[in-house]
Amino acid sequence: MKNNINELVNKYGFPLYVYYENIIKNKIEILKNTFEKFEILYSYKANPNKEIINFLSANNIGADVASINEVKLANKMNISKEKILYSSPGKVEEDINYAIENSIIIANSYSELKMIDKICKEKNKKIKIGIRINPNVEFNEKNIFEIMGGRASQFGIDEETLLEKKEWLYSLEYIEIIGIHVYMGSGILNYKLICDNFRYILNIVDLCINKMNFNIKFIDFGGGFGIPYTKKKNKLDMKSLNSEINEIFKKEKRFNIDNIRLIIESGRFLTAEAGKFITKVVDIKKSRGEKYVIVHGGMNGFYRPNFTGVIHPTIVYNSSAENEKVTICGNMCTPLDIIAKDILLPKINIGDIIVISNAGSYGYTMSLLEFISQRQPKEIYIKNI
Ligand SMILES: Cc1ncc(COP(=O)(O)O)c(C=O)c1O
Repeated sequence: MKNNINELVNKYGFPLYVYYENIIKNKIEILKNTFEKFEILYSYKANPNKEIINFLSANNIGADVASINEVKLANKMNISKEKILYSSPGKVEEDINYAIENSIIIANSYSELKMIDKICKEKNKKIKIGIRINPNVEFNEKNIFEIMGGRASQFGIDEETLLEKKEWLYSLEYIEIIGIHVYMGSGILNYKLICDNFRYILNIVDLCINKMNFNIKFIDFGGGFGIPYTKKKNKLDMKSLNSEINEIFKKEKRFNIDNIRLIIESGRFLTAEAGKFITKVVDIKKSRGEKYVIVHGGMNGFYRPNFTGVIHPTIVYNSSAENEKVTICGNMCTPLDIIAKDILLPKINIGDIIVISNAGSYGYTMSLLEFISQRQPKEIYIKNI
């Protein structure tokens, strides 16, 4: 690995993202084996790198997209329209116009539903869509980085408002609601929580089928499958997840689940561990007793650690036996540009290569790439040959 990384830096310079196809392949297998009866969508927001999405599409993975440009990206991958689910708040007419023909729209609010119906009426075109529902139950877990459902939020329609809106929903003549999307949160490492979430979503489906009389054809259960960013965290137990999910679906008798497409979506589980962020130490300085290691590509290359407060596994390529506490920072003119504060690493020299793992999701695209017009990271995709 060390020689390969040195070669890559010599060839492409730094900072650099390297993505390994063999790891993505392995993660696809794990998800497919865990969710045997489910279709899998890849959340483009995690990393829309063209070679990554091309490989995922070739492996029959659909697209969970959250902007019209992501819909277009998925279209370029030749993914069928039914497997492109477009769920985001704040869509505008232009988005809807394109999305009607090229994806399945998941409406996130009543006003969005109204706008879609109006546009369809103008086109005299009836369409089938999904709605995102914000469940009326909150995760009892503090360990999740991003909770996105079960509380007041800009995402989805509050579950408890559905029944009172039933008549109004049926007055929308040009749309038929055939799908449900629920997304509770990201970064879940406790499989029981995922199972509780699935159970609750099935209650929502029961409401939608048996009280709202929707002809439900697909359920997108979301996902939120986490990865252990640091060694202190445990992996998600996929074996237990598989057996409990199978049990849950075996027991479901309130409606005929066999005729419904079951869908999950995942970003980081598929790609986070497949990516490394590589950079080089360009300066080292001591300031008032503290040691600062300056690299290229802090918040403008790999912003995620700063943004989330998570220190990713970090390796220094040198042979030093002595450890020291340092702060790794980027080269932006802001004190915010810190990658890792007070991290214990082998004694570092100027010119050493630093490799940060678990950088394949929310790395490149979530960074402030244009900030201060510094050099931007290159992205290299290593095929599994
Ligand atoms: C609706 C929705 N789906 C999927 C994802 C992907 O999450 P993750 O990368 O944790 O799998 C997100 C993340 O924000 C999301 O909001």
